Amino acid sequence: MQEKFYLTTAIDYVNGAPHIGHAYEKILSDVIIRHKRQLTDNAFMLTGTDEHGIKIQKTAASRGITPKELCDENFSKFEQAWKELEISYDKIIRTTDEQHKKTVKQIFKKLLENGDIYKHSYTGLYCSGCESFLSPKDLTEDGLCPDHLKKPEEITEENYFFKLTKYKDKIADYIKTHKDFIQPSFRVNELLHQLENIEDISVSRTKESVQWGIGVDGDDSQTIYVWIDALSNYITAIGYDIENPTEQFKTLWPADVHVIGKDIIKFHSIYWIAILMSLGLELPKTIFAHGWITIDQSKMSKSIGNVIAPHDVLTAFNLEKPDAFRYYMASAAQIGRDGNYSDEDFKEKVNADLANNIGNLLNRTLNMLVKYFNGEIKSEFITDKSNKIAVMAENTKNQIIEAFNHYEIAEAADLIVSFADAVNKYVTETAPWTLAKEEKMLETGKVLYTVLEAMRHIAIMLYPYCPNIAEDILTQLNEKIDFKYENLYWGGLKSGKITEKEKIKPVFLRLDSEFATDKKKG
Ligand code: ME8
Ligand code: MG
Repeated sequence: MQEKFYLTTAIDYVNGAPHIGHAYEKILSDVIIRHKRQLTDNAFMLTGTDEHGIKIQKTAASRGITPKELCDENFSKFEQAWKELEISYDKIIRTTDEQHKKTVKQIFKKLLENGDIYKHSYTGLYCSGCESFLSPKDLTEDGLCPDHLKKPEEITEENYFFKLTKYKDKIADYIKTHKDFIQPSFRVNELLHQLENIEDISVSRTKESVQWGIGVDGDDSQTIYVWIDALSNYITAIGYDIENPTEQFKTLWPADVHVIGKDIIKFHSIYWIAILMSLGLELPKTIFAHGWITIDQSKMSKSIGNVIAPHDVLTAFNLEKPDAFRYYMASAAQIGRDGNYSDEDFKEKVNADLANNIGNLLNRTLNMLVKYFNGEIKSEFITDKSNKIAVMAENTKNQIIEAFNHYEIAEAADLIVSFADAVNKYVTETAPWTLAKEEKMLETGKVLYTVLEAMRHIAIMLYPYCPNIAEDILTQLNEKIDFKYENLYWGGLKSGKITEKEKIKPVFLRLDSEFATDKKKG
């Protein structure tokens, strides 16, 4: 058993409401943490919101409210969205929390004392979308920020700078010698290339240009620039303190994984690592960078008007539980690649996997158990672990653990579906209805047991993606609700009467897309 697992997500900017891109990251993270909780008692998930910066300040001003009011309003939308999607975080941090602000001031002071922060007058191109200065070679041919397609502002200021260049070689060395550090590894070369050209970075802005942020202790003229503020959440949230860190911090740090999007990998693998090196703290084990979600193959954007909130999808398809959406999002892309959302795909994928493949298998088998054995599993039906389905169950379990160790979340879901496919095939081949007709009742019972025991395994393996469906499956099998992996051994499904006609119901109903699409348009 692993002794602890600490996962963090990116903290979202609260200058708008959550969309399915934000949801993608939180779902991936939640699937990972639920899986880890199946293996250890001390798995901790942190998420949160990034609330300072010029964008918030400007949006609030344009609406005639205070920045804090804007943050409160949008924070509650994120909180509500994560509740609806059953994101089981252990803590949600806001960078406006007092404890966070206090510790960030401390951290800044410490970096200054270490000689890693110095004051410097600077002229640069600032993109408020990135909350970052861009170098001219980062820009598109038209001089725009490649991520936000906006012209950056030219700014001259005296700011504090962080000596990133001092840590450059150490970071490159760390990346090269720790092959699990950057996942997926196809990001490594691009990152090493960025590192070669890295310069010291501005870590504060003048009070005149940015008021909405954490002030520098002892220097009223400066506001701590968002990245030191934002990145530090990973340690402030669990009780880091220069003098006196909490027990929780000592147990959880270093993070096992920072789950983030591919657009902010540089901030995490370079800036954050340098800050930690300067503070003398241990480094995170893995930075897992996921790809981006497009809608019908185009980039989500307010100007195109194609931004979808997770709530829209649930209401459009009339879903009371988030399982189908969670499952679809978690399987939307191979590791680190971009994924796409479309209503049509969503419907097809969940109908095929959750309704037809998994749901029907359970339903048919329980119905046969009622028909042939009055819903009772006799003890002589229990099969041993040498049969091919049992062997496959064991292999699938081990492959899933391995896939999760490499953050291959969609791949792990495919393993479950392949296993369910194989069990469906086994039912077709063994044809228990024919065996029953031939009155080979012991054989019939053994086949049904094998399938239902496979279903119990499927429920446990599916749990991180679809917690409600998983619970329904175990309930219908008359099993106690316990998703720990230690329950994944063959023969765990108990004998006795487990069901009757009235108790059998589908665990997942097929989605009717026409109904859903109409409803969405209307
Ligand atoms: O970057 N598909 O906040 P953010 C997938 N506050 N992921 C997406 C996405 C999409 N279409 N759009 C955004 C920030 N994301 C900073 C982070 S962390 C110390 C500070 C992901 O609200 C994005 O990649 O712009 C990032 O990981 C997260 O959502 C928050 O993005
Ligand atoms: Mg962003």
